[in-house]
Amino acid sequence: MAVLLSTKASAMADWRAALLALQPDLDVRLFPEAGNPEDIEAAVCWSTHDMMELRRYPNLKLLISMGAGVDHLLRPPGPPPGVPVARLVDVLLTSAMTEWVLLNVLRFHRQDLEYRQQQKERIWDELPAPVTPTRRIGVLGLGALGGDAAQKLAGLGFPVSGWSRRAKDIPGVTCYHGDAGLNTMLEKTDILVCLLPLTPETHGIINGRALARMPRGSYLLNSARGGHVVDAALLSALDSGHIAGAALDVFVPEPLPPSHPYWTHPKVIMTPHAASATIPASVAPQVIENLRRIKTGEPFINLVDFAAGY
Ligand code: NAP
Ligand code: GLV
Repeated sequence: MAVLLSTKASAMADWRAALLALQPDLDVRLFPEAGNPEDIEAAVCWSTHDMMELRRYPNLKLLISMGAGVDHLLRPPGPPPGVPVARLVDVLLTSAMTEWVLLNVLRFHRQDLEYRQQQKERIWDELPAPVTPTRRIGVLGLGALGGDAAQKLAGLGFPVSGWSRRAKDIPGVTCYHGDAGLNTMLEKTDILVCLLPLTPETHGIINGRALARMPRGSYLLNSARGGHVVDAALLSALDSGHIAGAALDVFVPEPLPPSHPYWTHPKVIMTPHAASATIPASVAPQVIENLRRIKTGEPFINLVDFAAGY
């Protein structure tokens, strides 16, 4: 069995080394050097790979995303028919995302934008003290990433709510689901954190109507996918002061063109899709485990539900 790896050139060697460290005899092929297409039984790919190209491998039995998200693999034309898709769930992927969320929640909560501006202008002015138990956080998506961020924020003493597709019960987090649940949560959210997968249901979910439901002066964090946010609606809410600040890690398109207004907006904090990157050595065990299951026929781990879209 051969495994095809496909990602940006700079990451390829790390991926290969991580897999070979666990299974030295694994036949790893680095795209585009796939060799005989009939040898390839698994492909481990990032968004750079063309899904039509995967139709060249008649014996492909599993496609693994190099990240937590799979929107880049599922969007049309999608993976070859009949090939299951697995994604990554990983302790380092989760902890890095929670760090990014905590960094930006605390940045807004502790009035960092205002104090940095005051420092620039050499203004000594103590602002009203922030009060943690009254700063309401709402987390969209309570999966591997959103669930952890919500619990860590609750651990700091913030009142935390979360929204998922199915009903959930998470200690210390007020859980909502469904359309009505979303509206109720938005109305009680001072800092909204988006950690949803991008699916047809969640595309554009942070639109003008959703932002208008949030209290005036609230904040947005998006480290899920750029497609969740309607940029024109967010820019208009920032300019009117309805939304006081946004921390954005993901955009449409990526890289964001230099002319985009986010780059210079005084209320926007940007990172270049860097909130949580996959560390190949950390995720290699679950990839090797799924390759083993191709041989044994056991159910794959972290399998994507095509009907749900994530
Ligand atoms: P996950 O474990 O699959 O969790 C997804 C959560 O979203 C679940 O709670 C799910 O509800 C909820 N959800 C999905 N569709 C919904 C809908 N229509 N309405 C309400 N809730 C919905 O995913 P994850 O591992 O936490 O990752 C989330 C996303 O983060 C990824 O898809 C990816 O786009 C993004 N990400 C970004 C970076 C970065 O560096 N910026 C890094 C990693 C991941 P249920 O619990 O009911 O299923
Ligand atoms: C990164 O964006 C991921 O989906 O892991």
